[in-house]
Amino acid sequence: MIEIIRDDITRLDVDAIVNAANSALAGGGGVDGAIHRAAGPELARASMALAPCAPGDAVITPGFALKARYVIHAVGPVWRDGERGEPELLRSTYDRSFAVARAQGDITSIAFPAISTGAYRFPRRLAAEIAMDSMQRHESWFTRIVACAFDAETEQMYHAALD
Ligand code: APR
Repeated sequence: MIEIIRDDITRLDVDAIVNAANSALAGGGGVDGAIHRAAGPELARASMALAPCAPGDAVITPGFALKARYVIHAVGPVWRDGERGEPELLRSTYDRSFAVARAQGDITSIAFPAISTGAYRFPRRLAAEIAMDSMQRHESWFTRIVACAFDAETEQMYHAALD
C-alpha cells in the first residue's frame, strides 16, 4: 500500500526511513540534518564508515535513537539541466533504496522524503512522477510504503502522479 502523507519523516513509526543524503554521508541540511539530529551522533559515525556513496545508490545503517530501526542513506542527483542523466539517476536512487531494504530481510514498512527536490533542485513534478513509478513497481514487496511530503505542493503532486 502506498500512503501519501505530510509530516516530519523523523517522527514516523516505520521499519526504515530513507534519507536524502550526499556522497560523503556525513550529514547536512534539510531532511538529512533533521534525521541526524533525531538519530543522534552514532548515525554519522555509522554512515561515514560506508562513504562514499555514489549518486543513484543507497546504503543502510541502524536508526539509533529514531523510532525507525533503519536509515537508508540514498544519494539523489543534483539537477543541472536535465541532460546529464538526472531522471535516470533519481529513478536509480529510489530503486536502489528498495533493493537495499529488501536485502535487509526484516523491513516491511518504509518511508521516503522527496529526494533531490530541496538543495539539489530537481523539478518537483518530475521527481514526484519518478517516485510514484518506483513505489508502484515495488508495492507488492512491502506492506506499507510512505511518500512523506514536507509541503502541500509536494503532497498534491504525489496524489496527481499516483492517479
Ligand atoms: N521530513 C520530511 N521531509 C523533509 C524534512 C523532514 N524533516 N525536511 C526537509 N524535507 C524535504 C524538503 O522539503 C524537500 O522536499 O525533503 C526534500 C528534500 O530536500 P533536501 O533535504 O534539501 O534534500 P536534497 O534536495 O536531496 O539535497 C540533498 O542537501 O542537506 C543536504 O546533505 C544533504 O547535501 C545533501 C543535499
